[in-house]
Amino acid sequence: MTTLERADAAERAMIEELDRIVVKSVIYTSGERDPRVPVPRPPDQGKFYMMGHDPRLPRMPATPTLFDFFRYRFGPSNHVMQSARLAQKSGANEKVVLACLLHDISVAGFIRGDHGYWGAQLVEPYVDAEVSWAIRYHQALRFFPDESVGYRYPESYVKLFGPDYKPEPYIERDYRYAREHTWYMTSRLITVNDLYAFDPNVQVQLEEFTDIVGRNFKQPKEGLGFDASPSAHMWRTMMWPTKYL
Ligand SMILES: [Fe+2]
Ligand SMILES: [Fe+2]
Repeated sequence: MTTLERADAAERAMIEELDRIVVKSVIYTSGERDPRVPVPRPPDQGKFYMMGHDPRLPRMPATPTLFDFFRYRFGPSNHVMQSARLAQKSGANEKVVLACLLHDISVAGFIRGDHGYWGAQLVEPYVDAEVSWAIRYHQALRFFPDESVGYRYPESYVKLFGPDYKPEPYIERDYRYAREHTWYMTSRLITVNDLYAFDPNVQVQLEEFTDIVGRNFKQPKEGLGFDASPSAHMWRTMMWPTKYL
């Protein structure tokens, strides 16, 4: 091998090694590791597990804003933006529009399972209580029709989960609780605007929502993830999802 070939080979090996370590680290954080199998030993001498920025992801600014998370971690976020625009066009108030814009950020950037609950917790310190409440319960409301606003059980759910799927009892319980709550309609409106927000031909720019977010989302000056809010660590995990610890 020439010197150049050797250098190339060494670089390739380094990249592969990085992948190996990163992949292991991902497995620890995503819950995809089989918990019955013992965790592997520490890496070989001179090699280290990932403890910061993952080079496979875009680097985030030092004081990240909500929009930075949309740009670098939540993409493609067409679905939530279409949903927010639909709400806006229908004349919904700003809380509903913001709730629509944020309703699935957990699916896009954090955890899919129980995304309504996780999504609500993520934004709770920064939005009006009604907004996070609506996000929390939209997940359950999606499964239950409301003829008064023309909301039917989604066709897409039949395709996704099969015709016989029945939501867990806790989902039904939370639906019943939400149904009787003063803020029910705020959450219901997420599901109304959610249903049709999957048009591949509609392009929405994030900047459409600059003013609504500016007025209704308390952006921490330290950046999301670096303030001391109860959900700051969750934003940090979205920023550095593969940290070993
Ligand atoms: Fe959702
Ligand atoms: Fe959605």
